[in-house]
Amino acid sequence: MLCKKLHHAAFRCNDAAETVKFYTEVLGLKFAHAMGEDHVPSTGLHSPHIHIFFEMEDGSSIAFFECPRDPGNIKDLESPDWIQHFAFEVDSLETVLKAKADLEARDSKVVGPTNHNDFITSIYFFYPSGHRLELTTRTCDASCYQIFEDEAPAVLAMWNETHDWQQREKLYGSQTRYARKAVNWARNVFPFWGDLSGSGEDA
Ligand SMILES: [Fe+2]
Repeated sequence: MLCKKLHHAAFRCNDAAETVKFYTEVLGLKFAHAMGEDHVPSTGLHSPHIHIFFEMEDGSSIAFFECPRDPGNIKDLESPDWIQHFAFEVDSLETVLKAKADLEARDSKVVGPTNHNDFITSIYFFYPSGHRLELTTRTCDASCYQIFEDEAPAVLAMWNETHDWQQREKLYGSQTRYARKAVNWARNVFPFWGDLSGSGEDA
């Protein structure tokens, strides 16, 4: 695969010092790098700025620019505010719940925990500079991940065709269930279902 891992995703911030304080003190990230120029290195445009990086355990980073002389908003204000966000993965649901309590103790408004499709469970909050952040943990095992991957093209095809999840019964056989849940149910009821389906996955 060409792309090995996330290096960084970059956003704009209001205040670099406030941003450093939050990402190091609240989320415990490493303040790994700071650099600044009067001109943008890639384009040469005049834009005095500082570019700061906060590194996670796997070496990936979230990065910010404070660029006070540039026009525009800190983030996309036209789209609904839940769309643009950055998600940090943590090690367990217990850690998600503890982070929620810690953030609330700092007077942050926290949404969740929210179960997304039994894929991940997440909490959300807006800070600093109004960015939506997510702390998430994986809530399914390796065999379930394979089912998600196998399903993805069919889910996309149905969306492209209908743009209407009311049509989900065509794909999932139910208004409320996902195909993988039907698979898990079938495995419980018929232990040899995996073999019969030809999926080759371990039950
Ligand atoms: Fe997300």
